[in-house]
Amino acid sequence: MTVDRNAPVGVFDSGVGGLTVAREIMRNLPSEKIIYFGDTARLPYGSKSPETILRYSRQIIRFLREQPVKAIVIACNTASAFALDTVRGETDIPVIGVIEAGALVAAQKTRTKRIGVIGTEGTVSSRIHERFLKSIDPSLSIFGKACPLFVPLVEEGWLKDPVTYEVASRYLADLKEQKIDTLILGCTHYPLLRSVIREVMGDSVELVNPAYETALELAALLEKKGLTSSEEVPEGFPYRFFVSDLAEKFTDFANSILPYDVTMTRKIDIENY
Ligand code: DGL
Repeated sequence: MTVDRNAPVGVFDSGVGGLTVAREIMRNLPSEKIIYFGDTARLPYGSKSPETILRYSRQIIRFLREQPVKAIVIACNTASAFALDTVRGETDIPVIGVIEAGALVAAQKTRTKRIGVIGTEGTVSSRIHERFLKSIDPSLSIFGKACPLFVPLVEEGWLKDPVTYEVASRYLADLKEQKIDTLILGCTHYPLLRSVIREVMGDSVELVNPAYETALELAALLEKKGLTSSEEVPEGFPYRFFVSDLAEKFTDFANSILPYDVTMTRKIDIENY
């Protein structure tokens, strides 16, 4: 199969969280087009079973392949934890997730070898970060904490609210006690709570946002596969957004965090894929 190097990259998440990854791709790979899908009708992914997340991921990949896209970024930690390995084996275009890039940076940054990971219940209970980090350095100690209320707080737009601060203080107390020096923001929604998390954890803890590293991993992968766009600036409409529900709400949110004016988000029926 020949893949068009000027085709867009597909990026997907359960909702708006993956926009933190799309934003880094926009900033760091400005010649790449993006088709983004947010599964807003079926959010949250973090409390669902691996089988369900695999089914959802397969449907979204079928939709993205139809556009068509040249590569796919699973911009969701839960879907990366539960579906990446399987769908990679089923798809003939490159697929990357968000777990490994961030974990690698955390392994490089930690001085005390005590790393915290926050994410959804699914991601934390999968222990995927721990397995990957221990395969790099078995002497690392990893402390996971699920923070399920963070996602609805972000979706609600309460990024700096006192309620969010209170919730973060309670969730992060264990990790503070464990004296971690590096914290992986293991859910794509969490970089949007960075300032609250920073305030609670203090300046001595390094916060790792895997979104930036994922964009760099994508750049390296496209280069390796000969798929880097040959257009200096993407022609026409460089970024397209699709959701499974509440398109207007998504557009408003996207406009509040992206360096790009999102004029339209299309709603599609993902169950048809
Ligand atoms: N964006 C998802 C992740 O990174 C979390 C949101 C959800 O639970 O759907 O895991």
